[in-house]
Amino acid sequence: MEEKYLIVGGSKGIGLAVVNHFGQENCIVISRSGSEQANHVLCDVLTDDLPEIENLKGIVYCPGSINLKPFHRLSEEDFIADYKVNVLGAVRVLQYYFRVLKRNKGSVVLFGTVANSQGMSFHASIAAAKGGVEALARSLAAEWAPNIRVNTVSPSLTDTSLAEGLLNSDQKRENAAMRHPLKKIGSPEDIAKAVVFCLENEWLTGQTIGVDGGMSTIRV
Ligand SMILES: NC(=O)c1ccc[n+]([C@@H]2O[C@H](COP(=O)([O-])OP(=O)(O)OC[C@H]3O[C@@H](n4cnc5c(N)ncnc54)[C@H](OP(=O)(O)O)[C@@H]3O)[C@@H](O)[C@H]2O)c1
Repeated sequence: MEEKYLIVGGSKGIGLAVVNHFGQENCIVISRSGSEQANHVLCDVLTDDLPEIENLKGIVYCPGSINLKPFHRLSEEDFIADYKVNVLGAVRVLQYYFRVLKRNKGSVVLFGTVANSQGMSFHASIAAAKGGVEALARSLAAEWAPNIRVNTVSPSLTDTSLAEGLLNSDQKRENAAMRHPLKKIGSPEDIAKAVVFCLENEWLTGQTIGVDGGMSTIRV
């Protein structure tokens, strides 16, 4: 049976761009809604039973959150919700498919954020959770070498439904673009190219790749 990539959250945004790159026939998609795609499984990875899949060569875990508030307005529930969808969902998926990944010498891509390498106002909860994701990825890269490679892609603001509230006017889009050294916001395809690179490069593990218009590293 031909091996496929499991794209958790491949129904939209960055995950869909990854599916479009490989073709639906080469991917299995999990999401809570949207069942138009081939090989699509409706499933909430935080609560539902995960589907049995034997022919996996890689996993991309896309569910995430952008919950920006001043620190004093963030509740314990906010921190827990961000941690659950970003970290514990990935933990659940990776524990479930660990054996098949190991058997197939698979590859994993998780998502961090530019707000891990740059301190950013109002990002305390998401940065705490995504810091956990990056640390999880490096730990697993060590624990699972040489059988399974694990890398993180860390975007800055990217044009998906997740970021809709930050990009829902021309003025907001223009301001967001101008904050980046490369003067544009990311497209899902910009980020997907890095995901594909991580999945396919057989000498890459334990890395965090910033795809962020230069935001994390340069000032112009
Ligand atoms: N967009 C940005 O500006 C940005 C910036 C930095 C980091 N990131 C990170 O990049 C990753 C991808 O972001 P994105 O913008 O592509 O997100 P998105 O457009 O919201 O897509 C998320 C995908 O995950 C699915 N999903 C969410 N919760 C799920 C659950 N519990 N069970 C199963 N599927 C679930 C969604 O489908 P359903 O809702 O139908 O389940 C959707 O297919 C995230 O980890 C995000 O934190 C994004």
